[in-house]
Amino acid sequence: RLPGLMPVGDVKIEPSGLIMPKEFVPYLDRIKNFEVRPDDTWVISFPKCGTTWTQEMVWLLCNDLDYEASNNKLLLQRFPFLEAVCILSDELKQGTNPDDDWIFQADTINYIAEQKSPRFIKTHLPVSLLPDQIWSVKPKIIYVTRNPKDVAVSYYHHHRLWNGYTGMYPLFMQAFLQDKLVYSPFWEHVIEYKKLEKEPNILINSFEDMKSNLFGIIQKTADFLGKHYNEDEFSKLAEHLSFNKMKENSAINGEEVVEEVRQRHKMDSSDPGLCFLRKGQVDSWKDEMTPDIAKQFDAWTTKKTKGTVLEKLADI
Ligand code: A3P
Repeated sequence: RLPGLMPVGDVKIEPSGLIMPKEFVPYLDRIKNFEVRPDDTWVISFPKCGTTWTQEMVWLLCNDLDYEASNNKLLLQRFPFLEAVCILSDELKQGTNPDDDWIFQADTINYIAEQKSPRFIKTHLPVSLLPDQIWSVKPKIIYVTRNPKDVAVSYYHHHRLWNGYTGMYPLFMQAFLQDKLVYSPFWEHVIEYKKLEKEPNILINSFEDMKSNLFGIIQKTADFLGKHYNEDEFSKLAEHLSFNKMKENSAINGEEVVEEVRQRHKMDSSDPGLCFLRKGQVDSWKDEMTPDIAKQFDAWTTKKTKGTVLEKLADI
């Protein structure tokens, strides 16, 4: 993916139909054979659904709410991204200093394999491409969903930032709807996980519920993880996870690398879309999507969810 070009994938990987860059293919077997441990905790999502937010919540719940430790180590290191090694563009890898930003150059699959337990692992892979051992070892998995219109708008800004995408906004939206972007298809991703919702080792949260009732989601997630805290501790965590606090948090906001990327692509640093924690709102698509594109999204959702576990849900 050259900077400025549409971040469409090159290959479709069956049986999920996952769209990926061709660089992903040689890693498929390593991911399938990745050794899973029962005390791993996985956060899984389609990109831009609130993965980072969920990771920080889960990591703190599982680490005795140790804010000092969380603030002193990058989330990328505490909660590494399994397939980052095959997703990050060469340009991004080469442009970073291996000493400062080692995670961009690391073989993330090996890095995670070598970590001590308990491990925290992020992935955007669909159900069928997870490591085989996930189904026998059954580690805890937290999956997070979000309204696809907000996802698409967030993904557009994500690619403007990380891939220097300079193409037209409507073209990007069409590529999203046509399931051409990396990690597409969106609905199939969500539906496959939704089908597993009754499994005791799987919890599904939504970005929208995190926005409307973060305290409740923290409690529910703590219960799922078997962690016990009092109300004050939950309130303090909710405060730590607020958008403004996370946006300022240098262990999370990636601001150093983001600034490097902005400079390399000569981006306008006052552009509010060009940062990692951008708006953090529900329905912000209403400010950025034309009624015509919004209508196309609704028709696409109706078609994709018809006859599936999601058909009865008005929105997600
Ligand atoms: P926007 O681009 O709409 O602002 P992911 O981590 O899966 O890449 O998701 C990124 C999205 O989650 C971004 O959405 C980001 O701003 C939002 N986000 C991250 N932390 C958040 C928080 N504490 N509160 C609300 N939104 C948050």
